[in-house]
Amino acid sequence: MASLNDIRSTFLNYFEKQGHQIVASSPLVPRNDPTLMFANSGMVQFKNLFTGVETRDYARATSSQKCVRAGGKHNDLDNVGYTARHHTFFEMLGNFSFGDYFKTDAIPFAWELLTKDFGIDKSKLLTTVYHTDDEAFALWKKIGVPEDRIIRIATDDNFWRMGPTGPCGPCTEIFYDHGDHIWGGPPGSADEDGDRFIEIWNVVFMQNEQFEDGTLKPLDMQSIDTGMGLERIGALLQGKHDNYDTDLMRSLMEASADASSSDPDGPGNTHHRVIADHLRSTSFLIADGVMPSNDGRGYVLRRIMRRAMRHAHLLGAKDPMMHKLVPALVQQMGAAYPELGQAQALITETLEQEEKRFKQTLDRGLKLLDDELSGLEEGAELPGAAAFKLYDTYGFPLDLTQDALREKGRGVDTDGFDTAMAEQKAKARAAWSGTGEAADATVWFDVADAAGATDFLGYDTETAEAQIVALVVDGAQTETVTVGGTVQIAFNQTPFYAESGGQVGDTGLIKTESGTAKVTDTRKSADVFIHIATVESGCINNGEAAVLEVDHARRTSIRANHSVTHLLHEALRAALGEHVAQRGSLNAADRLRFDFSHSKALSPAEQRKVEAEVNAYIRQNAAVETRIMTPDDARALGAQALFGEKYGDEVRVVSMGANGSGKGADGNTYSLELCGGTHVRQTGDIGAFALAERRCQQLWRAPDRGADRGRSDRLFAGQDQLLADRRTS
Ligand code: ALA
Repeated sequence: MASLNDIRSTFLNYFEKQGHQIVASSPLVPRNDPTLMFANSGMVQFKNLFTGVETRDYARATSSQKCVRAGGKHNDLDNVGYTARHHTFFEMLGNFSFGDYFKTDAIPFAWELLTKDFGIDKSKLLTTVYHTDDEAFALWKKIGVPEDRIIRIATDDNFWRMGPTGPCGPCTEIFYDHGDHIWGGPPGSADEDGDRFIEIWNVVFMQNEQFEDGTLKPLDMQSIDTGMGLERIGALLQGKHDNYDTDLMRSLMEASADASSSDPDGPGNTHHRVIADHLRSTSFLIADGVMPSNDGRGYVLRRIMRRAMRHAHLLGAKDPMMHKLVPALVQQMGAAYPELGQAQALITETLEQEEKRFKQTLDRGLKLLDDELSGLEEGAELPGAAAFKLYDTYGFPLDLTQDALREKGRGVDTDGFDTAMAEQKAKARAAWSGTGEAADATVWFDVADAAGATDFLGYDTETAEAQIVALVVDGAQTETVTVGGTVQIAFNQTPFYAESGGQVGDTGLIKTESGTAKVTDTRKSADVFIHIATVESGCINNGEAAVLEVDHARRTSIRANHSVTHLLHEALRAALGEHVAQRGSLNAADRLRFDFSHSKALSPAEQRKVEAEVNAYIRQNAAVETRIMTPDDARALGAQALFGEKYGDEVRVVSMGANGSGKGADGNTYSLELCGGTHVRQTGDIGAFALAERRCQQLWRAPDRGADRGRSDRLFAGQDQLLADRRTS
């Protein structure tokens, strides 16, 4: 029996033989589409090739694309576990032509692969075409499909669009008849939603582009985009009707059953399905840089993780178990997706942390839910206020509560939930205006309410596409800003770092179809990243898509200065003692400043020692790694935190490798700090370091902490300065 891994290879190899370049899956977080939460089809990474905006050195490609359908417009989360073919994560096999071959080749390719290489019985296949597409109809007829099994469809089912805008076109779909013992009718019939006729392949004839105003224009070139779910074709080829009975999904369900000492086919079957699916989506999302958080993509990840954890809980698992299943996943999919093995430690740790954390509130939340339900009439909805309390106090995402109620045949009053959420936001806003912060901050609350928090992409990338969600001039929202105008711009996502933790905000460029703007600073307010910009050409309009480019050279210097601050901190502690604590810092492009507590000025010998130690750390060229954990766990590991700083529920912990001294609580790290900033990948990327200037100041008079009184040294250092000094000396 061909495994899913074999089937993936057969597909890619077939198209390679037909002159296609095998292209690796793009990351789940799309870099080139501001409107998409996650990659949800194979064509996402090729979008701009169809419109001719981008060209590559190949005109035919084939791929197996990681897709997540959760959280965005396509959301299959609620159904996973209860149906045969819903997944939050799946692989889409595809072949693509960019202005190269069209229908006359695409249809025979699909037919040959299915009926020869995969050996599917021709008599079980039927196809659909867009009702006006006589050419596709004739091609299927020529290949030998009987006319009564080529069905014309007049609906959008056979006109594929990636979204409200973008490349699109009529499509032909190939269906498999699983037999008359299963209920359901052929496509286009009243019973088409049944399970008998299953769509296995969608072949799109990309020939149009859809614009926002509703117009549909022909594209200059005719292209092909196809999509076949690996899990579906796998089920078919393995003689199964249910995707969860394929070898790959089955092995994950068995791992789940082992870890919970239960039977994969017993009463816990639904739970094992949920766990197998969610293990895949969460692991791949973490491998692609998404971390659990309370908004944006991170919240979708958290929702999936917690949903899986509740099902593990229902299996009776007393201890965290999801993280124990990661090796089974890596064994199955690590060869096809090397990023999974590379991120294995991070995935395992992130899952375990989240499980431990959620465990603390899961039991109490479920108890509250039971108490609430016992007071309700038969079949009545859970009041919105109770669902909100579960969300707010016990960390239950709304869909987790809905999932828990589904088994009991009840729903949630979602309007009531939204009202409770709005009330809480209003309270937060009132508390904010009482703090005397800038008066224009309220406008950012409006923006946050309407558009949500900005998703920060800048740990992984310095360029991205994004959608403008607000333009603010003089504290008021506006729709257009013309050349010369200064404006504050918010996007749904951004690679620009907003000033915080001593690191200055990024600068760079914004380009839209209608104009360009120069970003001179980036700040943050109410979780919205504010790009302070001047329009340099044309105009910038609210709602437009934009390409955002961080000034790479400047960010590179800032990164180096920020990372060396961490090393300086450690070197000072090594030279002066463990009492040295950071009091503040500035990490800019041309210099860094480090404020710390110490009772006297550094002697020249101490300065030399500190410089030498920092440079030694740099030369180690050690890896810089980032993990997410609770502040308590981070402190337990020995991470340095900033005195007086308020930390959220979770923190990033930046660690810098080993120097053999065995310093640090985990025995081999020489720097471990809570930090949200951006850093170099290896300490060697810092270059070199020298203290440029030193000042002693009577700075610290913490009123409630007598021991902290005393003098603090402020160290100024600049690498550019250092290199200049060296050349002249
Ligand atoms: N892009 C097409 C789909 O997702 C092939 O179905």
